[in-house]
Amino acid sequence: MGCREGEGGVITQRVSTGIEGLDEVLQGGFPKGSMILLGGNPGTGKTIFSAEFLYHGARDFFENGLYVSFSEGRDAFIANMSSLGLDFEKLEREGKFKILDLVTVKEAGLDTLMEMMTSDIDTLGVERLVIDSFTAMANAFAKPIDVRIALHLLSKIVRQSGCTTIVITEIPTGEQRIGLGIEEFVSDGIIVLEKRWVEGRLLRELVVEKMRGTRMARTRFLFTLHNGFKVFQPFKAGRVEEPRRFQPIPHTEERFSTGSEELDEIIGGLPRGSAVLIEFGTEISREASMLFSVPIMANFGTQGMAMIILPCSGFNAETIYEIAKEFQLTEEEINDLLRVIERPRPYLKRDVDYVFVPKGQDIREVYEGIARLRQELRERTGKPVLGFIGLDTAGIVLGEESLRNILDQIVTDTRIEGGLIVFVSKPGVEGIAQYVANMADIHVRVVCENGVILFYGVRPRTSLYVAEMDCSKGYPMPKFTPIL
Ligand SMILES: Nc1ncnc2c1ncn2[C@@H]1O[C@H](COP(=O)(O)OP(=O)(O)O)[C@@H](O)[C@H]1O
Ligand SMILES: [Mg+2]
Repeated sequence: MGCREGEGGVITQRVSTGIEGLDEVLQGGFPKGSMILLGGNPGTGKTIFSAEFLYHGARDFFENGLYVSFSEGRDAFIANMSSLGLDFEKLEREGKFKILDLVTVKEAGLDTLMEMMTSDIDTLGVERLVIDSFTAMANAFAKPIDVRIALHLLSKIVRQSGCTTIVITEIPTGEQRIGLGIEEFVSDGIIVLEKRWVEGRLLRELVVEKMRGTRMARTRFLFTLHNGFKVFQPFKAGRVEEPRRFQPIPHTEERFSTGSEELDEIIGGLPRGSAVLIEFGTEISREASMLFSVPIMANFGTQGMAMIILPCSGFNAETIYEIAKEFQLTEEEINDLLRVIERPRPYLKRDVDYVFVPKGQDIREVYEGIARLRQELRERTGKPVLGFIGLDTAGIVLGEESLRNILDQIVTDTRIEGGLIVFVSKPGVEGIAQYVANMADIHVRVVCENGVILFYGVRPRTSLYVAEMDCSKGYPMPKFTPIL
């Protein structure tokens, strides 16, 4: 709870929404005593949103709650919410929460209903009220009621009681708007929950259409219902407080590890001898893209395995050296195991082993030079070699036509040698990326939506995951949360 300056200098006291990640974007929470309309198609998370609002209000902020239910009976509500870790029975016993189960009460008139609510609000000292849903309430009466009158009556109760109130409105599937026509005038805030599909995968969005006295830089936010209602903030690169050496994840007989246990779990590891394509969409920052490529490299390097890298644009031998140092590979490991392919540059450091400048007149000779390097590394380490190719750079250096010609060879050689080849594509090389996608055993995509980084597997097919940066291990790692 906190006090903030609202529009026109009016002081608005805020109450926490109880939703992870939402208070931050609402200048502290809902205006205290406000009436919020919460709309959405069936299954968009309205009940879960309201339950968290009541639960955290009662448990963490000493604001007792009343849940007026027309759509879900008491037992179903308690059971569903306990599966999300919200123990409403305990709150009931402690006198902090009450369910007014009106699912079967259809004979009562509007006046009787309003009296029941007011009485409960007074008896329990309720400060948070949820009507689930206004739509079901309007349909509950034997005698048809005017929704306008009902909404005005509700808003009167809200003003008199001072309760911060969520009024749920069911939006029929296929429609977008709340559509009462009067909601703008009686409500202090309107939030709509939406479902959307990205390449056939479920994405959830929360839209703040109106919030009295609240300045908002952005009004659309991605969220998940995984382990409760959580709103995602735009991707932020974290800072490593205490740098530590990368902790390798052992490979298995059949599969290499990605370097991230979570990612291994999601895509099932990387089969030995396979080709991998990581496709990045637009607006993916450098830090975000590194979360997917660097752990694979660090996991090979820290297990004495060599790698040959043709970096993406924006990276070169020096930057990759710096990254290897951040993950605390030793100077010796770097010079033994790392080979970054560079074009001849006049200012190139010649005295380091990790820069490899291929010699040769044509693409064949260049490729044979790299194949010999791979063989030398494999024999010296006694382990398979990781190949890493930025398709943007490769396309520019070799030309798309020559690149296509050697891609099959690279993939075939990798299969025979039981190594791993990772291709990375960025916007602008879709043609060649499609060519590689057809050959790849593993194909994943990283895209940006509302500033949030989303990850999904095309092969194997996975649902959407939000990727965030986790620095708690002493180096940057991806952290994945499924959109459910
Ligand atoms: N324990 C749970 N964990 C994760 N998601 C859940 C859980 N229970 C229900 N859901 C998801 O929540 C959705 C329903 O949320 P709900 O708040 O009841 O929607 P609404 O009230 O808008 O119809 C379902 O689509 C389901 O996918
Ligand atoms: Mg519901």
